[in-house]
Amino acid sequence: MFDLAKAHRSIRSFTPQDIDDSSLNELLLTGLRSSSSGNMQTWSVIVTRDEKNKRELYKLHGKQKMVLEAPLVLTFCADVFRMREWIRLNNSKQSFDDLLGFLTGAVDAVIAAQTICLAAESVGLGICYMGTTWWAASQLIDFLALPEGVFPVTSLVIGYPAEDPALRDRLPLELIVHQEKYKRLSDEEIRETHAEREQKAWARYNAIESVRKKLEKAGITRVTDYYTSEFKYSKERHLRISKMLIETLQEQGLWL
Ligand SMILES: Cc1cc2nc3c(=O)[nH]c(=O)nc-3n(C[C@H](O)[C@H](O)[C@H](O)COP(=O)(O)O)c2cc1C
Repeated sequence: MFDLAKAHRSIRSFTPQDIDDSSLNELLLTGLRSSSSGNMQTWSVIVTRDEKNKRELYKLHGKQKMVLEAPLVLTFCADVFRMREWIRLNNSKQSFDDLLGFLTGAVDAVIAAQTICLAAESVGLGICYMGTTWWAASQLIDFLALPEGVFPVTSLVIGYPAEDPALRDRLPLELIVHQEKYKRLSDEEIRETHAEREQKAWARYNAIESVRKKLEKAGITRVTDYYTSEFKYSKERHLRISKMLIETLQEQGLWL
């Protein structure tokens, strides 16, 4: 288990080999055993295998080609709809149509997703998460016909790997783990501990021809500038998507 988890790499290129029904069912059943808040299991997952539907998801996920290549796309959703319907039918007092309900469901959904990732990797499948799920949340709700109380929080592509990428770097454990209380790092400590990361990430991005050209054209010379540029996580994009998310959460009855 330890070796498996430590060998994780995201896989973005897949062979055409399909995942059969019984393997898929095993993966989903394993996900179902995940912990969930109050055992309410306030999550749902939409399975996409149909080529036509995958093509639509490909467009919604910023044309990431792994969506077309992978035989399987899973969209994990926070789901308080089912719980609320059950409560309604029993004439019990209603709840969960609020931000806390959404967060409860979102955490349940992500935990289940990660269980499925490990199970998939244990049988030689490759996975990659897609943060574009947030970016396309409103369109995914329409496309996947998600009712009120259901909100997409993350997606996975799963398939048999057609690449064997190197392990990506991680920050030193001491930066992530704090003993008893949070330890703020000094400027010097941040510089020192991020130097290797800066170098490795920069080299990795520059090794991708299309990215290197983009960086050159935009005059970007540091990885932090790339992260907050229009190509990745700019403030403008974050503000636009944050506003959309709040509006969409309101529409789905998951804000207040
Ligand atoms: C929530 C989340 C969203 C992600 N979104 C994307 C994505 O949209 N496209 C992509 O290629 N990789 C995506 N990734 C994969 C990360 O880039 C990857 O996990 C990270 O670079 C570390 O690499 P590794 O998983 O190979 O160790 C995502 C990962 C997470 C956890």
